[in-house]
Amino acid sequence: MDGQAKRLRLTQEQSSRQIKSSPMNEKATRNTQKLKSIASFLPFLKPYKKQLLVATISLVLAACATLVVPLCFRKIIDLGFSDISHEQINLTFINLFIAAFVLAFASALRYYMVSWLGERVTSDIRKAVYSHIIVQSPEFFETQQSGELLSRINNDTSIVQILVGTSISMAVRNVFLLLGGMTMMFITSIKLSLLILATLLLTVIPIMIMGKKVRQLSRNSQDKIALASAIAGEKINAILTVQSFANEQKEIKAFNTSIEASFLASKIRSAARGKLTFVAILLGFTSIITVLWLGAYAVSNKEISSGELTQFFLYAVIVAGSIAALSEVLGDVQRAIGASDRLLELLGIQSKVQSPKIPFSSPPEMNKAISIKIQGLNFHYPSISTNVLSDIFLNVQAGEKLAIVGPSGSGKTSLFKLIQRFYDPQSGIISFDGVDIKRYQLDDLRKLIGVVPQDISIFSENALENIRYGDENASDDEVVTVSKIAFVDEFISKLPDGYSTFLGDRGVRLSGGQKQRIAIARALLKNPPLLLLDEATSSLDAESERLVQQALEEAMKGRTTIVIAHRLATVKKADRIVVMENGRIVEIGDHSSLVNNGGLYSHLAQLQFTDA
Ligand SMILES: Nc1ncnc2c1ncn2[C@@H]1O[C@H](COP(=O)(O)OP(=O)(O)OP(=O)(O)O)[C@@H](O)[C@H]1O
Ligand SMILES: [Mg+2]
Repeated sequence: MDGQAKRLRLTQEQSSRQIKSSPMNEKATRNTQKLKSIASFLPFLKPYKKQLLVATISLVLAACATLVVPLCFRKIIDLGFSDISHEQINLTFINLFIAAFVLAFASALRYYMVSWLGERVTSDIRKAVYSHIIVQSPEFFETQQSGELLSRINNDTSIVQILVGTSISMAVRNVFLLLGGMTMMFITSIKLSLLILATLLLTVIPIMIMGKKVRQLSRNSQDKIALASAIAGEKINAILTVQSFANEQKEIKAFNTSIEASFLASKIRSAARGKLTFVAILLGFTSIITVLWLGAYAVSNKEISSGELTQFFLYAVIVAGSIAALSEVLGDVQRAIGASDRLLELLGIQSKVQSPKIPFSSPPEMNKAISIKIQGLNFHYPSISTNVLSDIFLNVQAGEKLAIVGPSGSGKTSLFKLIQRFYDPQSGIISFDGVDIKRYQLDDLRKLIGVVPQDISIFSENALENIRYGDENASDDEVVTVSKIAFVDEFISKLPDGYSTFLGDRGVRLSGGQKQRIAIARALLKNPPLLLLDEATSSLDAESERLVQQALEEAMKGRTTIVIAHRLATVKKADRIVVMENGRIVEIGDHSSLVNNGGLYSHLAQLQFTDA
């Protein structure tokens, strides 16, 4: 986790502690909580103090220039132009031009700086969220949908971006304009100011109420669109299943229904927006016309000059504009509070499996096989309370080849997960060379283990990079060497671009057996002292299996290997065989003694091993 995420977590912990201890009533608590969830993102702004300063200065400058313009206009109108010198005319217009120049320059600078800050902070938050998610233990991913996580990284951070990159600066600028404009209005004419405030309130209140409804409706239509694309995404990912059940028409119908629902939501929103536009323009003009009307009387009664009326009118426009902008900003801020709450919640989750505070200083050497000792292991997955592993005691010698067999669901893969410390057992200890694996830095521990898993992940990259995933520092030659050992070279060299061939999204261009061989090559490239093979050869035909077996035997030399096996050929070569049933070890021995025992193994050997 990088510094920012840490800082953020600290602020969040502080704020939640404060919230808990506060005796305020519920609504007030919620409001402070809202403000705090926005304030929690302030640490992300901290590294950019200089940019923040430039943005603030340009913002204030632009607002001041805006407020100066009406003054210039008043002067121009009151001068009348008929009986004054050309010099005076020039001076007035040059002043106006300078104001316009300052306004243009400061606005452009403010826009750039504020957008820059927004983008920068969002990028930092995205990085912090991703680096927080990717270190979570598998338990976290059991309860989170990947689609939802991605949406948090993309959408929620974009909403925060709007807040930092637009809303905050808009709010500050408009509060400035509102206060400045009102002050100037009152200086110009108190009577007209009170009048216009009354009409403005009459205009703004209904617009704000209607605006809130429009915002709710637009959120609704966005949700509907997100739902439709989530449905489509899931089905496109499972296209073979959809087509083999001939469910295309059903899926088209389901998608069309959800798209129509989103259209309906958009239609309702557009109608509401249309009504809002009508009311806003009508009420806005009515209030302006009314005040001008009364202003015209004031001018004709010589209460104010026509220049002053113009000046007043321009300030009124500025004030009205800023009120409208502020009500808009309020909606964005509310959305941003929702989004930052969700992000903070995510960043607050601690991974269940953590490296120890003071890790074991010298991890086992990479080029020496390790011994494993498992003592009294009991384990159930966090989501289910029944044990999947019970009372496991097992010693594996350094360099031993151990096979695990057992019916489906007997806990074999779960045992591998515990050896890699994806979960911690409820009781029991696993140790490598006599050291509890909990004492290792997680990275160090996992560097020791090469795994060929049951579900193989191929990334949408070329063959070379997919194998290099085992060791990012490996040279091209090293990749080719392990590819030859794992019989990957044999089929890759036949691909159109050889090792540069793109393997398709999730490896769709490979057969099951080819994916397995890539996974074996990947594990070998890591060159680990412990190999865990989960049915590593189950998808291979008899001939390739024989080749891969040979290769694996070569690779197993000098390492400790545990292989979950469904084939007799694999099992027979093992030094010892562990038989598991219902999460327990029921038999241990070599092939012939276990067959002679007449227990579960001999039964499995007859039924399950295809080439028995
Ligand atoms: N993430 C999980 N959460 C809850 N239960 C799980 C989880 N993963 C596996 N299980 C359960 O744990 C039990 C053991 O599963 P495991 O994957 O270890 O079996 P296995 O022996 O590898 O089976 P197979 O030979 O079919 O691969 C099963 O009953 C399974 O339903
Ligand atoms: Mg399994």
